[in-house]
Amino acid sequence: MRNPQLNAHGELQHLLTIEGLPREVIVHILDTAGSFVGITERDVKKVPILRGKSVFNLFFENSTRTRTTFEIAAKRLSADVINLNINTSSAAKGESLLDTIDNLSAMHADMFVVRHASSGAPHLIARHVEAHPHLHVVNAGDGRHAHPTQGLLDLYTLRHYKQDFTRLSVAVVGDVLHSRVARSLIHGLTTMGTPDVRVIGPKTLLPEGVEKLGVRVFNDMNEGLRGCDAIVMLRLQNERMKGPLLPSAQEFFKSYGLTAEKLALAKPDAIVMHPGPMNRGVEIDSAVADGPRSVILPQVTFGIAVRMAVMAILAGQ
Ligand code: CP
Repeated sequence: MRNPQLNAHGELQHLLTIEGLPREVIVHILDTAGSFVGITERDVKKVPILRGKSVFNLFFENSTRTRTTFEIAAKRLSADVINLNINTSSAAKGESLLDTIDNLSAMHADMFVVRHASSGAPHLIARHVEAHPHLHVVNAGDGRHAHPTQGLLDLYTLRHYKQDFTRLSVAVVGDVLHSRVARSLIHGLTTMGTPDVRVIGPKTLLPEGVEKLGVRVFNDMNEGLRGCDAIVMLRLQNERMKGPLLPSAQEFFKSYGLTAEKLALAKPDAIVMHPGPMNRGVEIDSAVADGPRSVILPQVTFGIAVRMAVMAILAGQ
């Protein structure tokens, strides 16, 4: 079966998930993002790659970083950007997702950037628009399934600070069970040949069979952090939890919150990452989040270039 993200020529048609994305496609996205970082550093504000194209941001779930950086990225590529306000759109009157898509397509949309609480919603849209090869769908986070541009910006950040994926130990810590960010990053790291990917968390917050993704599993954070090059902290996704999976946020912080003391177990030059939004005092201590090893805000900035790269490549550049 053909990869639904690639067209018949093996080119990226949609970005739905990092799972199954060929290594060369990931490298192309990261390299293209690097060239956009270079352009921005030379103070070039806009390039005409998406001039005349319309990018529709459809965020059926809250977002600060992803929605805003997609908008900035599309504008830097000279696209027209339409942010659909879901609360005041016809979705609030019961219009189906696919009817909304048909109507926006009739307004000459070229690209849909979709965040949805239901896993698979962007795949459904991509299948629905199959007959219109000029239309591209980008998954901006679907349920607990995938958040590919976050995974790509995490990979970009790791490559920026640590260069070679094939020499890295990366620890992903916390609520892996509900995390689309974790799943996307794990697929990205294993595709890029990272030899040591670790997941750390209580049994209740780790998916059953997670080791099948090619990771080592730790329930003891002190053990799991030892000697790693990068630590990716995850937010407790309370909104996705069905029933109590933890005694309390305070207990979670004691065992799995990243403090300076726990960070000292990683390599002396280990970096600290977090996709945001961050809950200080729950998964991460402020001293670490704001400390010299934190690259949390550079991750956000790299997200602009990575999203520019994805949209430029989808547009055939
Ligand atoms: N990392 C991330 O997806 O953040 P937002 O929810 O603010 O977009």
